[in-house]
Amino acid sequence: MNYFEADKRYIFQTYKRNPVLFVRGSGKYLWDGKDKKYLDFFSGISVSSVGHCHLKIVKAIKTQSEKLIHVSNLYYTIPQIELAQTLSDLSLGGKVFFSNSGAEANECAIKLARKFGNKTGKYEMIAFNNSFHGRTIATLSATGQKKFHKGFEPLLSGFKFAEFDNLSSVDKLISPKTCAVIVEPIQGEGGVYPAKKEFLIGLRKLCNENKLLLIFDEIQCGLGRTGKIFAYKNYGVIPDILTLAKSLGGGMPVAATIAKKKVAGTFGFGDHGSTFGGNPVCCAAGIEVLKIVNDKKLLKNVEEVGNYFLSELRKLQKKYDVIKNVRGLGLMLGAELKINGKEIVGKCLQKGLLINCTQDNVLRFLPPLNINKKDVDTAVSVLSDVLKNYR
Ligand SMILES: Cc1ncc(COP(=O)(O)O)c(C=O)c1O
Repeated sequence: MNYFEADKRYIFQTYKRNPVLFVRGSGKYLWDGKDKKYLDFFSGISVSSVGHCHLKIVKAIKTQSEKLIHVSNLYYTIPQIELAQTLSDLSLGGKVFFSNSGAEANECAIKLARKFGNKTGKYEMIAFNNSFHGRTIATLSATGQKKFHKGFEPLLSGFKFAEFDNLSSVDKLISPKTCAVIVEPIQGEGGVYPAKKEFLIGLRKLCNENKLLLIFDEIQCGLGRTGKIFAYKNYGVIPDILTLAKSLGGGMPVAATIAKKKVAGTFGFGDHGSTFGGNPVCCAAGIEVLKIVNDKKLLKNVEEVGNYFLSELRKLQKKYDVIKNVRGLGLMLGAELKINGKEIVGKCLQKGLLINCTQDNVLRFLPPLNINKKDVDTAVSVLSDVLKNYR
């Protein structure tokens, strides 16, 4: 069977896929159908942060799936309650709503903020230009990039867009109808832009002064990616609502909307739901992910190897004029190019290195959190080899 042809024939053509079919993964490596090995510096968009098929996660999935796979949220299950407790203890000390994807976690946050504001007639939300919050109609409406909106208008009303890292642009948009501000502490899809510390501190202050909820979308940047268990811990700013997905299940679909107690209490019986949300198998995987990631040694590794990677990328920038800028935090890094990066991603793939390009010209690196400096050297040497043709 020609799988590339079959994909074209049988699957909605919504993804521009790279020409490779993976059949196996282990740790930081993937193998294609011809047994060619690849070093994965993308982790399925920050999902496989603990590496592919981590033995503890495989074991947790296996053990739970032999006991119980699904019962619906009309009943209690142990893994869901345990994962919620761990998430709450690690973050806001509040409550958790489980769903299956990042968009759903943000959808829940948007509904929660609206219901919270509803008592006082508030429903508007401030989001940011260049942001990305998902593909459902509400999360698309919160996404500050026109290219994703095209063809789907009219979108949900009530969203206003401020400039990222610009506090006065937020201040100007606040009205008596504003209920919340939603922001990625590090914009991912938008081009890997970490927020300035003063900006997030200022946002918290603005939200307090105007009685607005502050929502942090840590779907891409959370769970150890920045060297802290949550990105907000780098900033000393605590949100009212925190959304997580991607790496939470180690590859299994589980997402969480965590809210401080008084906010979580806004939802009553029947206000929100999800058939699969908090599925016991996914939650069992999530419990293991948190045990692996919430580890001082691993988080230190992210910080150290991330700093090393950033400095190596800066060296490449000095060497190759085609690199305009290098930025990021921990192991969420980007190299902005003066040219389109698609071809470079393709050439790295041919040489056995998986990276990504976002916004047409930002090479995005999201390797597993346990890589070492030697892995960085390997990746940088492949990249250098490719970039030398673009001087
Ligand atoms: C910051 C952020 N929010 C939300 C989403 C949407 O997540 P999902 O694709 O799981 O719906 C993404 C996905 O890339 C993301 O990066």
